[in-house]
Amino acid sequence: MSIKIEDYYPRETFQKMKAFADERETPFVVIDTQIISDSYDQLVSNFPFAKIYYAVKANPATEITELLRDKGSNFDIASIYELDKVMATGVGPERISYGNTIKKSKDIRYFYEKGVRMFATDSEADLRNIAKAAPGSKVYVRILTEGSNTADWPLSRKFGCQTDMALDLLILAKQLGLDPYGISFHVGSQQRDIDVWDAAIAKVKVIFERLKEEDGIVLKMINMGGGFPANYIAKTNDLTTYADEIIRFLKDDFGDELPEIILEPGRSLIANAGVLVSEVVLVSRKSRTAVERWVFTDVGKFSGLIETMDESIKFPIWTEKKGEMEEVVIAGPTCDSADIMYEHYKYGLPLNLSSGDRLYWFSTGAYTTSYSAVEFNGFPPLKAYYL
Ligand SMILES: Cc1ncc(COP(=O)(O)O)c(C=O)c1O
Repeated sequence: MSIKIEDYYPRETFQKMKAFADERETPFVVIDTQIISDSYDQLVSNFPFAKIYYAVKANPATEITELLRDKGSNFDIASIYELDKVMATGVGPERISYGNTIKKSKDIRYFYEKGVRMFATDSEADLRNIAKAAPGSKVYVRILTEGSNTADWPLSRKFGCQTDMALDLLILAKQLGLDPYGISFHVGSQQRDIDVWDAAIAKVKVIFERLKEEDGIVLKMINMGGGFPANYIAKTNDLTTYADEIIRFLKDDFGDELPEIILEPGRSLIANAGVLVSEVVLVSRKSRTAVERWVFTDVGKFSGLIETMDESIKFPIWTEKKGEMEEVVIAGPTCDSADIMYEHYKYGLPLNLSSGDRLYWFSTGAYTTSYSAVEFNGFPPLKAYYL
């Protein structure tokens, strides 16, 4: 299949990124911050009533957090290191939530001392730690959701708890002097089935009602996590369709009096802003008669493309070479046989592709730089430039 630039970037934007890239040694990712700014505005206009907490893990670069800070975003933080980094840009603790359910007691205390008062949880042990280390804080309980078959990067099994456990935890939160504030879920990253939100919101509604009726606890917030789409090879609906449907689900269950709604986008805000530029190291065949070619590039699973694990995320790959296409296996530069990006899903690349040609991996702004190994096989971490 051949990839068309216009399906991913406005032509002038791509030309600007490419001109910048042409002057530099590969590999690196180049990120156009205007695209991030536009995605943020688009999200706000589709969900005007929601508070946005950028999931910093998607790309923690200061260029991005400062941009989103200035646009009024809040921040979903996963560790004390992200916390320090984001607060160093002048973001106040009232704009931060500690969204990781797996945390040390001393890290909870660190957040509390910095002024953060909103914590996610999904277990009794963690809740008790929060009560001790962050007394009186708001807590929201993350529930398990369906949808792992239709998300390209599923998350739910590791995080969240069943409805009954969520009820128990929120009741316990109150007993422990915390503020039982709401429910969160994450339907899985790059979730292609919008109906998954319907089932998740219905579960939340049950929890809201049961706590109110049976325990007099009035929850105030739903954190709907991420899961909104970036533009990869597998097509998705556009964001407006997601928003229209999700708002309909919310209204079906909660009527016009919606609780506070939080969104935690990572991928959908950032991915489309990046182009990872790599160079072909070698093209080879495994025997004289082998039909299949192997294309080895100077980036791989360990230098930013870990989301090709199990070939989960299929990045669009563009090259300037044109002509007859042939199926290829695409692999990285390290001495590790796990460093194969695509073997089963057959990418077509031009037959005349050779060493030194550049490959442009589209929609690579999210979960690339932050996932890159620091020194595997001696290769440095993935470089990034922000335009
Ligand atoms: C708690 C939490 N919120 C939000 C996100 C961002 O999700 P996405 O990149 O699908 O927008 C993640 C991703 O791992 C997450 O763990």
